[in-house]
Amino acid sequence: MTRLHNRTRTSESIPRKLLRQGKLHLLPIYALMRTSDLGREGIENSGSYRFADHVYRNEPSGRFGIGRALDAVLLRMRAARSMRNRFHHAQREILVAARAFAARSAADPVAVTAPFRVLSIPSGIARDLVLAAQAVERELPEVYARSTFFGVDLDPAPVELSRDLAGRDDHYFFTRGDALDATSFPSELDVIVSTGLGEFLSDDLLVQFYRNCHNRLRPGGTFVTSSMQPDRVADYLMRQLAELHTHYRRGDEIIRWLHSAGFHEVSTRQDDVGLQTLVVARRDERQRARDDKASAT
Ligand SMILES: C[S@@+](CC[C@H](N)C(=O)[O-])C[C@H]1O[C@@H](n2cnc3c(N)ncnc32)[C@H](O)[C@@H]1O
Repeated sequence: MTRLHNRTRTSESIPRKLLRQGKLHLLPIYALMRTSDLGREGIENSGSYRFADHVYRNEPSGRFGIGRALDAVLLRMRAARSMRNRFHHAQREILVAARAFAARSAADPVAVTAPFRVLSIPSGIARDLVLAAQAVERELPEVYARSTFFGVDLDPAPVELSRDLAGRDDHYFFTRGDALDATSFPSELDVIVSTGLGEFLSDDLLVQFYRNCHNRLRPGGTFVTSSMQPDRVADYLMRQLAELHTHYRRGDEIIRWLHSAGFHEVSTRQDDVGLQTLVVARRDERQRARDDKASAT
């Protein structure tokens, strides 16, 4: 098992580090940030699943009136608004894939019995997956009946929280696993969504992760992900006060790494905030014919 890549903080004490570096002006800001639930979570646990989920839920909370007010300001910052866009992107693309699956089933008597399999990796608290599954259940009950929604995360705590969120329902399967180890993935997936991991991986590890995703999709399956550009203020605060270090990548860089991992059909678009690249990649459909030919010989 590898380490938790999102835990980038290394200093035992941030105030002691700031004192050592002579950045005394940041001490009052540090104290203030700790009153906001988002600020405190970032400081204590870097880019944690709780930090991401707090941004996605978009419900300000904190200590005393000031903490809640500051939390509301942080949640309105461009970086937070942009993070929420990736959360909506993942849900939207699962629903798009489910509709395409329903259309295929209607046209093809063989496809009508096929399962629909979706993975979120790393799942964190799998709110996007559960909301998307509920939308599939509402809109396409016949697809939902044949669906399994998988969530995999290296940390057992969000795996448990995801089970609680999903409730007792055998359409979900949450388990602990390493995104860099292909054996952690279920196979023959229709959709894989991944947000909040690539930002913590070096280029080499990112390609390794993308390759695992590519190999675990069925031919024609969809990989949904995102990458981020820095917001100057948020990046400064996160680096100085939370030691939250991320890899920022432009759309063309993501396309390059996806190509290296075997994805040739890749589309990217910029979110309305201008910081998030929203990505959809597809595993080549012709791969199926090649696989069938190889197994026949
Ligand atoms: C910022 S959260 C993102 C979770 C979720 N996808 C989201 O957007 O909220 C990062 C998650 O990555 C998980 N993680 C870190 N390294 C991992 C690895 N090598 N394999 C699987 N999960 C990992 C952490 O446990 C954490 O839950």
